[in-house]
Amino acid sequence: MTNKKDVLQPSLWTPRPVEETIAVYANWADNYDAEVSARGYQTPDRLAAALAAHAAKPVAILDFGCGTGIGGAALRRAGFETIDGTDITPEMLAKAAARGIYRRTWHSTPDDMGFQTGTYPIIVAVGVISLGAAPAETLAPLVAKLNSDGLLALSFNDPTLKDHSYEDALQAEVSSGNAEVIFREHGPHLDDVGMGSDVIILRRL
Ligand SMILES: C[S@@+](CC[C@H](N)C(=O)[O-])C[C@H]1O[C@@H](n2cnc3c(N)ncnc32)[C@H](O)[C@@H]1O
Repeated sequence: MTNKKDVLQPSLWTPRPVEETIAVYANWADNYDAEVSARGYQTPDRLAAALAAHAAKPVAILDFGCGTGIGGAALRRAGFETIDGTDITPEMLAKAAARGIYRRTWHSTPDDMGFQTGTYPIIVAVGVISLGAAPAETLAPLVAKLNSDGLLALSFNDPTLKDHSYEDALQAEVSSGNAEVIFREHGPHLDDVGMGSDVIILRRL
């Protein structure tokens, strides 16, 4: 019998160069959904529910770092209908596109997110600006892609919260007057290991 605690690579939540990040997710794409579902991945539905309480639904949302589309599926369950997705790992992105729930998907790079500032009134990043995925430096350029009053809904899991660079990047956006935190709540992330995450909604000022 599979020990669920062995399903994810133990070294997932560590910093690594972007080429290695892409390789990790490329190798994981075929099994990602089954594995995270078996572990009880709660953050996508928590984030979607929080967003539904703070945002009008008939707007276009960008699912940044959409992976296989688990976040998009959670947004659909919460009532959001117009969702685009982008990711730097083609193998993950192909799974998202195959779900048939995204209006549009495209491959991005860390240097070119592939969309213009102000295109989306809402951007979500579920488990993306996170140890083992995108570095803390990704936050500021993503906030900068919003027009005033735009929302960025993101999550920091417990290992990411312990790595102060991510919290520092968030506080830098707040202290510089770029954004304010309108929602923040700690809750379950992965049930089997009792890991939590903060779901955070930022409003661009
Ligand atoms: C833990 S997965 C989360 C996927 C999905 N959001 C979910 O909740 O299942 C992290 C994803 O972030 C993507 N990623 C990492 N760095 C990125 C970046 N700079 N821009 C866009 N996507 C990135 C990875 O390719 C991977 O698909």
